[in-house]
Amino acid sequence: MFPNDFLWGAGSSSYQVEGAAKADGRGDSVWDALCRQEGTIYHGHNGDVACDHYNRYREDVSLMKEIGLQAYRFSVAWPRIMPDGVGTVSKAGLDFYDKLTDELLAAGITPWVTLFHWDFPTALYQNGGWMNRDSANWFADYTKVVVDRLSDRVQNWITINEPQIYIGLGHWEGKHAPGIKLPFAQALLAGHHTMMAHGRAVQVIRASAKKTPTVGWAPVGRVEYPATETKADIDAARASTMSVDKKNFWSNTWFGDAAVFGHYPEDGLKLFGSEAPTPKAGDMELIAQKIDFYGLNIYSGGRVKADADGKPTPVWLEQGHARNALSWAVAPESLRWGPRFIYERYKLPVIITENGMTNLDWVHSDGAVHDPQRIDFTRKYLIELNKAVADGANITGYFHWSIMDNFEWAEGYKDRFGLIHVDFETQKRTLKDSAHWYSEVISSNGKILETPHAGLEKSVFVYEGTVA
Ligand code: FCB
Repeated sequence: MFPNDFLWGAGSSSYQVEGAAKADGRGDSVWDALCRQEGTIYHGHNGDVACDHYNRYREDVSLMKEIGLQAYRFSVAWPRIMPDGVGTVSKAGLDFYDKLTDELLAAGITPWVTLFHWDFPTALYQNGGWMNRDSANWFADYTKVVVDRLSDRVQNWITINEPQIYIGLGHWEGKHAPGIKLPFAQALLAGHHTMMAHGRAVQVIRASAKKTPTVGWAPVGRVEYPATETKADIDAARASTMSVDKKNFWSNTWFGDAAVFGHYPEDGLKLFGSEAPTPKAGDMELIAQKIDFYGLNIYSGGRVKADADGKPTPVWLEQGHARNALSWAVAPESLRWGPRFIYERYKLPVIITENGMTNLDWVHSDGAVHDPQRIDFTRKYLIELNKAVADGANITGYFHWSIMDNFEWAEGYKDRFGLIHVDFETQKRTLKDSAHWYSEVISSNGKILETPHAGLEKSVFVYEGTVA
């Protein structure tokens, strides 16, 4: 089904799993700061301990090995490397990622390193954060330190994760860190600077990496899929997915066109008018550094059809349509059409850098964690992803989100996205049924997806004692 060299992985991010927030001189991040503000995070949860991955990474890597993971996507916490964001480098911080990398390689798992997954140093935020044009250079300096240390072993680099979210939700809607509501124009300018940071990071990686690097990024975006497979509906879905039609940050093309084509899209410039950033000479060239792959985080999508004029119009999901525990619609088709539309436009190899679901998981009375919804969700999504491959899109890998339950940002520990269950009181890990099933997906290179009940041998709920 999938190409022979298709890559099967799972991901996490530093603030969501590491904990050890004060250990070994780690600096403060905007997420630490947001968590301290009352009323911002579900039940006042925070990332102080999280999954304690900082101390338990060996056990975690051995579980990844047990699953048969080929690649692990993790992020580096900028304030763990440079507590003030610039200047002094923390030896202990670098040592952690060094040891994690070695542990992964010893287990036969390829490390995929994300340089920025939202834990921006508070010290730099106080100096203007992404609103400050210098942020691109701060990020380049930090990138250099990480690349100097890890690139003799790490080859796969992701610069930034989801500017749509940390700029849109973080700097405009105020729901994520740093929790501010800038005027739209200023938030767009912060987005421009973060894209310059992406470009600088690509330059630094290419200039300093010891092993030939593969570099990309991991944006998210709204995906619309066609109600039927008629050309008219497909065209409508493409037009909608690949447009800037609202004044918000959810568009694929606002950031995507900048990163790949070196200009913001016409429709966005028109819609945003004088609020759009005015790039200085050289900015767009910097942003559009050549990248090797286009990462995509896709969880959900909406359905559209063409109206009488060929314009996209929503076809609402039927009442009671399947949803995850955060109420995001289950939309497997999004993993066919999203990557396909992106591939058609940008002509870069696509890697699914995140996909998965939050489910109401708990440890059952037989000691196992039965999560049939997650298995069914992932199976349906992967079948659709495979259709995109059959359609001709060059899709080279899939990272499930997440390797383990973790701190789900504003939702705290309420939402569980993991293949591995974490008891946050005891830090006990339990492989969920989905982890066992995913093992079989990996070892069969997706072949078991053809058979609905394949790979579920370990998933039977066994009652202990007598059942009345
Ligand atoms: C994405 C984030 C990731 C995780 C998933 C559920 O937006 O990149 O950290 O929270 O959503």
